[in-house]
Amino acid sequence: MFEELKSLPQDSILAMMASYHQDTHPQKLDLGIGVYKDDEGHTPIMQAVQRAERKLIETEITKSYTAPAGSPKYNQLMAELVFGESHKVLNEQRVVSAQTPGGCGALRMGAEFLKGCSAESKVWVSNPTWANHIPLLGGAGLDIVEYPYYDYDSKSIQFDAMLAALEEASAGDFVLLHGCCHNPSGADLSHDQWLAVGDLIERKGLIPFLDMAYQGLGAGLADDAFGVRMMAHRMPEMLVATSCSKNFGLYRERTGTLFIIGNTTDQTQVAGSQLFNRIRSHYSMPPSHGAAIVEAILTDAELTRVWKVELAEMRQRIQGLRQALVKKMEASPIERDFSFIQQQFGMFSFLGITTEQVQRLRDEYSIYMIDSSRMNIAGLNDKSMDYFVKALTAVLQE
Ligand code: LMR
Repeated sequence: MFEELKSLPQDSILAMMASYHQDTHPQKLDLGIGVYKDDEGHTPIMQAVQRAERKLIETEITKSYTAPAGSPKYNQLMAELVFGESHKVLNEQRVVSAQTPGGCGALRMGAEFLKGCSAESKVWVSNPTWANHIPLLGGAGLDIVEYPYYDYDSKSIQFDAMLAALEEASAGDFVLLHGCCHNPSGADLSHDQWLAVGDLIERKGLIPFLDMAYQGLGAGLADDAFGVRMMAHRMPEMLVATSCSKNFGLYRERTGTLFIIGNTTDQTQVAGSQLFNRIRSHYSMPPSHGAAIVEAILTDAELTRVWKVELAEMRQRIQGLRQALVKKMEASPIERDFSFIQQQFGMFSFLGITTEQVQRLRDEYSIYMIDSSRMNIAGLNDKSMDYFVKALTAVLQE
């Protein structure tokens, strides 16, 4: 039977990661997959995480099963981090939470839940969006429609076109929005734009599904959550998926959270029963270790302080790299405006070069980024910056 199967292409981001690892060039540079790297080009384990892990070794007393929802304490701490401690939806007990295997697990289980709510509703996603959003949502059987988001010419959000497209959505449709640090463009909605999108969603009876995988990596833990918190205040129903991959550096531990907000406490509980039923039939319950680390950090004032300092350092370093890159390109012989890079947030920006130029960077300089020219700014460092600018200049000059 298996001889009938056709080979499927690998995900473009993961394929690039594999090619990078095989490359033996001494100055190879990975600006592909979204992982944070320090000045030495390493993805370190955060101090707070290491200290929490040591504590867990000494205090953990069982590896017995948890539950489809995972750890209640982790879920509560994550809800406070995402919504803010005294948010109305928490006080009104209108949030049900599930610890999930990464942000992907949260997105997929959110999609499975939504599919169960309505077979007809469509999910609207930004064009462009993170490549894996499409299989994660589409694989649950949701119909996907795009709304315009990023204008490659002006290097900014096509806000009027975005609103015009969402005007076409029907009541009950779902709208996927990036909570912060838009992946792949780095172009985030301003507070005023968030409010206008909120007005439209509320007026039309749409259901927002916010993916916030980078809280704390953009403008700060609270600022990055502006859209999520504002929407949660206003919308009767909403979903939020978050990830601890980037802000706790827990990538391979697969640690995320899905929140479902219902209109009343009772409806929220029913929604939770639906969600936990689906989780049980997919993976039964989430892996424990990553969430146990987060829990150990956020229940300890000193570890929380250390984590917040480290997160702020990461955020500031990315902002510094954005500024340094723009400055270096200004000083290069290339007469082209790259200043948009320092107005964007999080790990990614589109450089705005052609696919051929991206491929030349890869083939001639072993510099890896996605064909769309999405580059992970956090993959640069002081040592590699000059090599990168030299290579980019050479490629743009020809
Ligand atoms: C990315 O966009 O590079 C990250 O979110 C990692 C991934 O899994 O694709």
